[in-house]
Amino acid sequence: MTADSEKDIRHLKAIGRICALALKKMMKHAKPGMTTAELDNIGSEFLKAEGAKSAPQAMYNFPGATCISVSPVIAHGIPGGYVLQEGDLINIDVSAELDGYFGDTGASMIVAKHIPEIEKMFNAAKSALDKAVRAAKAGEPLNGIGRTIQEEAKQKGYNVIYDLTGHGIGKSLHEDPSAIHNFHKPDDRRILNEGLVLAIEPFLTTGRGRVVEEKDRWSLRTVDRAIAAQFEHTIIVTKDEPIILTL
Ligand code: CO
Ligand code: CO
Repeated sequence: MTADSEKDIRHLKAIGRICALALKKMMKHAKPGMTTAELDNIGSEFLKAEGAKSAPQAMYNFPGATCISVSPVIAHGIPGGYVLQEGDLINIDVSAELDGYFGDTGASMIVAKHIPEIEKMFNAAKSALDKAVRAAKAGEPLNGIGRTIQEEAKQKGYNVIYDLTGHGIGKSLHEDPSAIHNFHKPDDRRILNEGLVLAIEPFLTTGRGRVVEEKDRWSLRTVDRAIAAQFEHTIIVTKDEPIILTL
């Protein structure tokens, strides 16, 4: 959507903040010995208490309130009986709706452990997100986002995941513009307009950058079982620095 009123911005900020707080709470509580279903429940209860609805549940009948992906699954992981272990690389993705407006945020983390090699990839993915957000300016090419992400990944020694993209968001979880690629695509001539609401989500990996769907028909894992990291923010494009809704 294009946010073109104070009301739009107010509502987008409200749901963005709820998504961010839910994610933060879940990351804080992710501990060894806990199942991913229990972790999901923390997010679910938080959303409920704020009056918000899980977007994947409401829109796609996803079997969980949030997506919890345990490596080598990198996205759309179903919360369930898996018991988290110290040193697990996981991704938590929270998207939700309030008053007809949607927010979407995600982050990768290691459960109860420091693993410098993986944290290096986190830092690269975070800096790719940071730079991509700043490249998202009204009047600039939309693919500046992907080009920036790929450049940053490459410079830090990683590949991007080619099969997963950012997306327009606002009145629905996924809307136009779709396919906000995480790589340079010269034939993409779309230009960003002021007020455009986007979810930007770079995925970086040590592998080939391709994913396959698991038998559960939701979980997406890297084909080569390589590790990957994703960080995601929902933003509103402006002429200058965008408004980051999910900080
Ligand atoms: Co997301
Ligand atoms: Co998203």
